[in-house]
Amino acid sequence: MMLVPLAVVLIAALVVAEPAINEIRPQSNRPGRFLSLPVPQKCANRPKEFNFRGHNYFYSGHIPAHANQRVDWLDARNICREYCMDLVSIETQDENNLVFRLIQQNDVPYIWTSGRVCDFKGCENRRDLEPKSLYGWFWSANRKKMAPTNQVPEGWSFNPWSQTGHKKVKQPDNAEFDINGTNESCMSVLNNVYKDGISWHDVACYHQKPFVCEDSEELLNYIASTNPNLRL
Ligand SMILES: *[C@@H]1O[C@H](CO)[C@@H](O)[C@H](O)[C@H]1NC(C)=O
Ligand SMILES: *[C@@H]1O[C@H](CO)[C@@H](O)[C@H](O)[C@H]1NC(C)=O
Repeated sequence: MMLVPLAVVLIAALVVAEPAINEIRPQSNRPGRFLSLPVPQKCANRPKEFNFRGHNYFYSGHIPAHANQRVDWLDARNICREYCMDLVSIETQDENNLVFRLIQQNDVPYIWTSGRVCDFKGCENRRDLEPKSLYGWFWSANRKKMAPTNQVPEGWSFNPWSQTGHKKVKQPDNAEFDINGTNESCMSVLNNVYKDGISWHDVACYHQKPFVCEDSEELLNYIASTNPNLRL
């Protein structure tokens, strides 16, 4: 059984990274679902549709193996992770421009990102994340906190969260909670779904969407260190 030592090494690597948010296991509505480990051969042969600041990316709709695939947020993460990637994290306006352009030029209706609100086990008693709708959002791929959702992020010229949505209020609005008690814990970039252009929205994680994967330095470093002869 290789799985246990691999998992231990991986968790050790995660701890060394000193994340702002500790997220070893994601919350899920379906019990028994966990993060997938990277697969060395898939990492070596991962799709590289475009490159930005040393990271490779791909949009699922452009990859034959994943075209027409619509999956929930955790499945999307796990597909990316097997390639030593994770869902895209949009830390800068330049990277956001890249993602928005991809969506616009290819008429993509929406995509999953690695954006997540810290509302699972391990997020309790974190005063710095309250209120969650403003301060609780982070990028799961690298566990970096997002800017407060009501502010223009540092170095940006605008706030990428939409000013409207299902409830006609600015995002995130956790709208589905009011409909049937499902929290909108995951972040998607939507293409004009609410006549609001291309913009960020909180969405319930069970929704099925295409996705954008981005290289994960953590997973690539891990696979590189355990497979010294593999070309990544
Ligand atoms: C879901 O949203 C409700 C309403 O905002 C909130 O009270 C609750 O704490 C949320 N659930 C979780 C798991 O965060
Ligand atoms: C919540 O409502 C939506 C839309 O009506 C539905 O598709 C979804 O399955 C519901 N979710 C749950 C957990 O009941």
